[in-house]
Amino acid sequence: MSTPTILVLHGPNLNMLGTREPGIYGTQTLNAIDEQLRQIAAESGFSVTCVQSNHEGELIDTLQQHADSCHGVIINPGAFTHYSIALRDALASIRVPAVEVHLSNVHAREEFRSVSVTAPVVTGQIAGFGPESYALALQYLINNAER
Ligand code: DQA
Repeated sequence: MSTPTILVLHGPNLNMLGTREPGIYGTQTLNAIDEQLRQIAAESGFSVTCVQSNHEGELIDTLQQHADSCHGVIINPGAFTHYSIALRDALASIRVPAVEVHLSNVHAREEFRSVSVTAPVVTGQIAGFGPESYALALQYLINNAER
C-alpha cells in the first residue's frame, strides 16, 4: 500500500517567511515549517507534499491535481483567504477534509482579515499559533484520515 499523503498548500508571500514582518509571522522559514511537518507526518507513517505559490490559479491547479490522491489538505491561503471565490469553489469541490491555517490570529488584526471566504467550505480553521497552526492541522488530519 502506498504511503498516505497530506497536501500542504501555502499561498502568496509565505515564501518570504523568515524575513517577512517577523513581529507578526515569526522568524521560521517556510522550509523549516515544511521540514517539521515532514517529520511529524513520518512518525505516523504519512508523507506531506508541500507546495507554495503566489498565484491563485496555480494553487487551484495543484489542489485539483492532488485532491483525489491525498488524504487531506492543509491550506494557508494567505491574502486569498479574504477574497478568492475561485479558491473557495475549488476547496468546496474536494472530498477529503481540509483545514485552513493562519500563522497569525487573523481575528485580532485589521477587520478585513477576520473575513474568510474559504473557511465556510473547509472542515475548520486554525489561526494564531504560528507554525504550530500547521502542526495542529496535520495532527487532526492524521488522526481522522480514512485509510
Ligand atoms: C496569513 C494571514 C493573512 O491575512 C495574510 O494575508 C497572510 C498570512 C497568516 O498566516 O497569518 O499572508 O494567512
